[in-house]
Order: sequence, then C-alpha cells, then structure tokens
Amino acid sequence: MRSKSVYICGECGYTSPKWLGKCPGCGSWNTLTETLQTQAKPSASRPAAAVRVAAGAPMPISEIKHGHESRYPTGLRELDRVLGGGLVSGELILVGGDPGIGKSTLLLQICQSLGKEKRILYVSGEESAEQIKLRADRLGVDTPNLLLMSETDVEIILGTITDTKPDIVIIDSIQTMHIEAIASASGSVPQVRETTNALMRTAKSMAISMFIVGHVTKDGAIAGPRVLEHIVDCVLYFEGDRQVSLRILRAVKNRFGSTNEIGVFEMRDVGLVEVENPSKMLLDGRPEDISGSAVVCAMEGSRGVLAEVQALVTPTGFGNPRRMSAGIDLNRVFLLTAVLEKRARMNLSNSDIYINVAGGLKIDETAADLGICAAIAASRADAVIPPDMVFIGEVGLGGELRSVTRLEKRLTEAANMGFATAVTPRQSMRGIHIPDGIKTLGVRTVSEAISMFRR
Ligand code: TYD
Ligand code: MG
Repeated sequence: MRSKSVYICGECGYTSPKWLGKCPGCGSWNTLTETLQTQAKPSASRPAAAVRVAAGAPMPISEIKHGHESRYPTGLRELDRVLGGGLVSGELILVGGDPGIGKSTLLLQICQSLGKEKRILYVSGEESAEQIKLRADRLGVDTPNLLLMSETDVEIILGTITDTKPDIVIIDSIQTMHIEAIASASGSVPQVRETTNALMRTAKSMAISMFIVGHVTKDGAIAGPRVLEHIVDCVLYFEGDRQVSLRILRAVKNRFGSTNEIGVFEMRDVGLVEVENPSKMLLDGRPEDISGSAVVCAMEGSRGVLAEVQALVTPTGFGNPRRMSAGIDLNRVFLLTAVLEKRARMNLSNSDIYINVAGGLKIDETAADLGICAAIAASRADAVIPPDMVFIGEVGLGGELRSVTRLEKRLTEAANMGFATAVTPRQSMRGIHIPDGIKTLGVRTVSEAISMFRR
C-alpha cells in the first residue's frame, strides 16, 4: 500500500486531505500538520479502542532475560567512549552540530576502521560522490566495503538499503532528504519526521546501525525537531568554535550508555585527531608571566579538564563599563563581579572586564567561580598568579566558598599536570585524600583567596 499525505489536527485529530488554517473539527487555528498516513482508520463497525489479547503477557522483571547487546568499536576511542563502549547493532544515532564543524569528517573517518569487518553505505544529499571521494583520499579512507551514494529520495535510499544489505548506514544530512508523497519542502518538520520514521523502521527490521546527520539551527536546536530526538536511540552533539581546532562530542541522550562522557578531538589538516589529554592541549603554550590568568579545573564527563581563564580589567573610557565573556556565561560574570564589589570591597564600577577561556572551551560549571574571581582580581592589581597554582571552588552570593563535587578527581588531574598548589574551599578538605605532589590551600571566603593579589 502506498502511503498518502494528509493533514491532521493536533488538538482534536480531525483529518483533512488538504491544509486548512482553521480546523473544522474543533475550531482552533493553525493546528493542522502534514503527516503520512499508512494505517487504515478505525471503521465504524470496530471501535477505536477495543479489548484485545496481548501477544506477550506482562512478566515480572526478575524473569526477563536479555542477551548481551553486541557492540563493536568504531576505531575512534573518543567516539566509543561517548557511545558507551562502541556501536550497538540496530542503533539509531543522531549527530547534530553547526554546519562546518566536522560531522561529515567524523563519520567518513570511522568508515576506514569499521570497513574492516562491516559493510557501510554512505548516503550524501549534500555532496557528490566525487567530492566525498576527494575528502576520503585526504583522510586516508579507501576500504572497498564503503559504498558511496549521492541521493535525496528516501524511497530510492530504502530500496538501496534493502538490496545492498549494509551493516551500517550514514545519512548526511536528514535536512536534505525528502519523501515524494509529502508536499512540504525538504527540511520541514513533516519531511524530517517521516524520513526518520521510515529510516528507523528499516534500520530496526534489518538490525542496521544508522548515523543520521542533523544540522543545528541558530537557536541551537537540531533543525526541524525535537521529535527527532524522541525517535532515535542516541543524540550526539558536535560542538566547537570554527575558529579554533578543539571539538567536543557530547551525548545528550543515550539508550545504550550514560550521557556523562565527552569525546575530545582536534581538527587538523589530516582530519579529526583524538585528544587523550585535553588539559595538556588547553594549557599548551600558556604564558606564565602575564597578569590576570588563572587555571581552573572543570569536570567534563568523568574527566577533570584544566583550562586557563584569562581576565582583562581596564579603565572604562566613557559611558557604562563593558562586560564581555567568551567561554563563560556572561550572567555568571555579572554575578561574580557583583560579589567581588560587595563582599570583597573591590571597586569595579569604572572598569571594563573581558573574560576568555583559552582554547575555545566552554565552561558551565560553578567550580570555576573562584578561578574567574582570581583572574579578575589579579588583572586589576596587575599581579601574576604563580603558574603552578590551580583554583577550585564555587562562590556564593555571600562571598563564601562552597564545596564542589569530585574534588579528589580534580586534584588528581591538577597533580598529574604538575600543579603544586590548589586553592580550595576549606570545609571540603575534611576526609578527602590529597594526591601526592600537590598541596592545598583551604580558604573560607573569596576575599581571603584574592587577598594575595590585593592592591
Ligand atoms: P565537515 O565535516 O564538512 O563539516 P559538517 O559536515 O559538520 O558540515 O567539515 C568541514 C570543515 O572541516 C571544513 O571547514 C574544513 C575542515 N577540515 C579540516 O580542517 N581538515 C580535514 O581533513 C577535513 C576533511 C576538513
Ligand atoms: Mg557535512
């Protein structure tokens, strides 16, 4: 049966063959959306909901047995870590990210290693097969198990999948795919939703693992829809600043693992290179004799990552003082500035403040508060913070230092990177094991911590 496209009201379920502004069923406006109809409507003789006998009776959870899901490595350990230990067969993965961030590069790159044992079908709606071949040459991908196809018609793609029976399918990108029977343009919500549904049915029935690339819109959502996120098993976001080479892969949903892990890569001319020690990469080439630079330790997944926070405090030329920030939420900077003014009696009302996290990392953890305050105070006083000092602590509105989670892990990372002193909240030192090679300086308030740089 060929499916046909209809318009269904989201409020009352009224079905119309064409789009209507006002629903004749319930009278609400703009509630009809295009949907592919494949199932027969309930007929009058059979009510919509009748009692039927389930094929499998409910079972106590203790009696349900499961086989171990089969996982295979992708060849990139950072990606495997985010997936929860490798790719699961039949898994549907959405890879989101800004255009040009490296989604196609990442997926093409893993084909070389996956291609040793698996057959892969790479469908691109954005680039021609020759263009992909050029990129593959640069990335050193030449496995005969990789089939390339430049196509946007979903029915043709599904036919090819059924014929070639690959183990892995890559769809690049979902916004370029379309189903003939749906009138809306490619990339619209109905197209994206129905395409994903159709691909999912095929993937699940043939136990194919499928990567779907989705572009991100300006406001940060994967274009089209949150509905996509509900359908797939795993949602990965590829983040980074196009100007800098650091790329972070983050799972925001994962039915086969935790969402607590990140993968760190560097974009080079040979493609994406795994970064096993992000702290080293972020601190490399750090100037050790300039004022206003402080090192903080953020938790990224289960790993501690050290990063340099730089502050520049300059006299305001005219008008209102400026506050600018890259890598730290600007509202957090406002809040910490207010705490410094009120609780540490530091006059910043005639100063512009610029904050930057070196290397393009974005820190959204309050454990960096103390480091940000230290950088501001040091820049204002033109003081150089000892290069082997690290700051860990949240700052409260009272100017008090608050404990942070996983302090031991952060201290271990700092000790491993050769830091000698950690400034930490005093109360969190009780009962924790301090790693060798680092000593801690417990402080109670932010003004106590920055008294070293007061002028
Ligand atoms: P791409 O994977 O095409 O991004 P997306 O699919 O997310 O839109 O990545 C494109 C960018 O990556 C492009 O600006 C060039 C850069 N790049 C490299 O720096 N090195 C490489 O080896 C490759 C393949 C791309
Ligand atoms: Mg691409």
